[in-house]
Amino acid sequence: MSTPPPGYRLLDGPPSLDEYLELRTRSGLTPPTRDQAAAGLSGAWAAVHLVHEESGVAAGMGRVLGDGGWYFHIIDMAVLPEHQRRGLGDAVLTALLDTIRRAAPPGAYVNLLGDPPGRRLYARHGFTETAPHSLGMALRLG
Ligand SMILES: CC(C)(COP(=O)(O)OP(=O)(O)OC[C@H]1O[C@@H](n2cnc3c(N)ncnc32)[C@H](O)[C@@H]1OP(=O)(O)O)[C@@H](O)C(=O)NCCC(=O)NCCS
Repeated sequence: MSTPPPGYRLLDGPPSLDEYLELRTRSGLTPPTRDQAAAGLSGAWAAVHLVHEESGVAAGMGRVLGDGGWYFHIIDMAVLPEHQRRGLGDAVLTALLDTIRRAAPPGAYVNLLGDPPGRRLYARHGFTETAPHSLGMALRLG
């Protein structure tokens, strides 16, 4: 497991439902409804979160959806604004990728939708853009 920055504890598993909604909302990611989050929070293949030891606040998180064999999708990369640019995002991503490396046979395919704030972080970990060969496409059901 990756080493978190001093003052933070890296925990296996997702944060609580309230912490999850807080992290998504305050980091600027679209928040799901409470019902959606409650149904989906424990459904990921892997998840970690980081707790700020002094305040007890869940300051960062990330999850992986995956088939356990070769296909993995990283979601919910979020760090509270006041805890950003301290290496938390890097620690979360390192932990998630280590988990995939440990559990999956060699050659796993890992992808994500890279919003601007995380793109340099992902590139440092080896992610490359899939366009123009493959474009991310999405559908929101009514
Ligand atoms: C993307 C996100 C998770 C990154 O989290 P983070 O904790 O800030 O990430 P890190 O601290 O590991 O790295 C971010 C930057 O801080 C720098 N940094 C890390 N530790 C630092 C330190 N101690 N001092 C100064 N800078 C530092 C990194 O080098 C990096 O710089 P770069 O982006 O210019 O390359 C966070 O910005 C976020 O939640 N954004 C809003 C939600 C979002 O867009 N999520 C991504 C969806 S794809």
